[in-house]
Amino acid sequence: MAAEKFIIQGGRPLKGEVRASGSKNSALPIIAATILADGPCSLGDVPRLADVDVLAKIMQTLGVSIEREATGRISTRVVNPDQSFAPYELVSMMRASFCVLGPLLARRGYAKVSLPGGCAFGSRPVDLHLKGLRALGAEIEIEHGYVIARAKKLRGANIYLGGPAGSSVLGTGNVMMAASLAEGQTVIEHAACEPEVVDLANFLNAMGASIEGAGSHRIHIKGVRTLEGCSHDVIPDRIEAATLLMAGAITGGEVVVNNIAPIHLEAVFDKFREARMGFTRNCKVAGVSPNGRLKEVEIATLPYPGFPTDLQAQMMAMMCLANGASVFTDGIYPDRLNHVAELQRMGARILRVNETCVVIGVEKLQGAPVMASDLRAGAALVMAGLAAEGETEVRRIYHIDRGYENFEAKLVSLGADIRRAPDESAEKPPAV
Ligand code: EPU
Repeated sequence: MAAEKFIIQGGRPLKGEVRASGSKNSALPIIAATILADGPCSLGDVPRLADVDVLAKIMQTLGVSIEREATGRISTRVVNPDQSFAPYELVSMMRASFCVLGPLLARRGYAKVSLPGGCAFGSRPVDLHLKGLRALGAEIEIEHGYVIARAKKLRGANIYLGGPAGSSVLGTGNVMMAASLAEGQTVIEHAACEPEVVDLANFLNAMGASIEGAGSHRIHIKGVRTLEGCSHDVIPDRIEAATLLMAGAITGGEVVVNNIAPIHLEAVFDKFREARMGFTRNCKVAGVSPNGRLKEVEIATLPYPGFPTDLQAQMMAMMCLANGASVFTDGIYPDRLNHVAELQRMGARILRVNETCVVIGVEKLQGAPVMASDLRAGAALVMAGLAAEGETEVRRIYHIDRGYENFEAKLVSLGADIRRAPDESAEKPPAV
């Protein structure tokens, strides 16, 4: 597909109501989990995203038929359980696809899955995934960039999954999926408590698994013999919802986002209040409204329920226009700062010392050609472009298409002047 860019005419306050899609980071491991099912699964609110398409391709190579029905639901069914090879060409496009390892091992006893490699904002190891699966009795070798995992029978175990940056979201998911079909009881200590882990546990339980404690740091799993197909609706995307609210706020607009679970965004809403943003919320809706220039904040990203790393770039874009100096550190991915240089090109004043950024708010940003380096950095640049004076071109928007469903259509529905155009200047997209 030809490369594309967004062309944005900034300076229009966004106004209106918009719906958050289903969560990307819930949908991906849940789709991988359907490998475990003996019957068909039906999934609602799976967003239409490039990342979902990549995983669908991997599922097909693993013998799972996967289709989007006319209703919009995704249906899956295992048609050929003999295929347990996930190649580098696909896994390297999206790290979340490493989540097929646990289900393949548990259901088929064998898996050969490519190591995903690094990504745009750091090395992102998978040692915790492998530690957990080994503890369940898997024999794991690394050969020529591939993980080769074997297990005649997985057995429940006590597994500590804490790493240097806390727990691992997909690592917890991978081990939880494998342990669901292991013999006996598993306890995962220092489990990730993200809402997406809870959604995956709810899906597995709907299939017949016996999982308790998801959402806390200790998860108990009683292994069962089989898992059946089931029907499940994915939770709303908390990161997309907050991005849309921040897009409203950075333009001084009035935006309401529905289909959200505000309880998943407490840390973010706390910072909204600290920044003195006009802000309201109720059980499934949140809204922002103009309240003058925002006040500076201090952001240190943390595992859930802390401030999410996946909103660090967007929050930074917003603080570029605040009244005061904000401080940012990303405790999960200290190098996730590729957006800084691009925001600077738009007139932002950001001082970076090692892993800390001090953002000194300016009164105006200026439109400029900029380049998205990852999904969230891309969203932050679009936000900055919506608020900036003049025209902004955001290149490499294939990053944004990976994780925001109908991003520009949603922004246009709120009154933004943003359009997609071919990007003749683009080089071939690197694998991400
Ligand atoms: N880590 C290890 N060892 C591991 C795994 C992770 O040390 O085996 C470290 C990482 O290097 C990082 C920290 O643990 O410092 C957390 O990484 P985690 O494993 O939780 O990340 P992930 O599960 O691979 C998911 C999301 C990311 C999100 C992170 C953190 C999905 C598909 N991806 O990744 O989402 O940033 O959790 O919340 O769920 C995004 O949507 O833009 C995105 C990158």
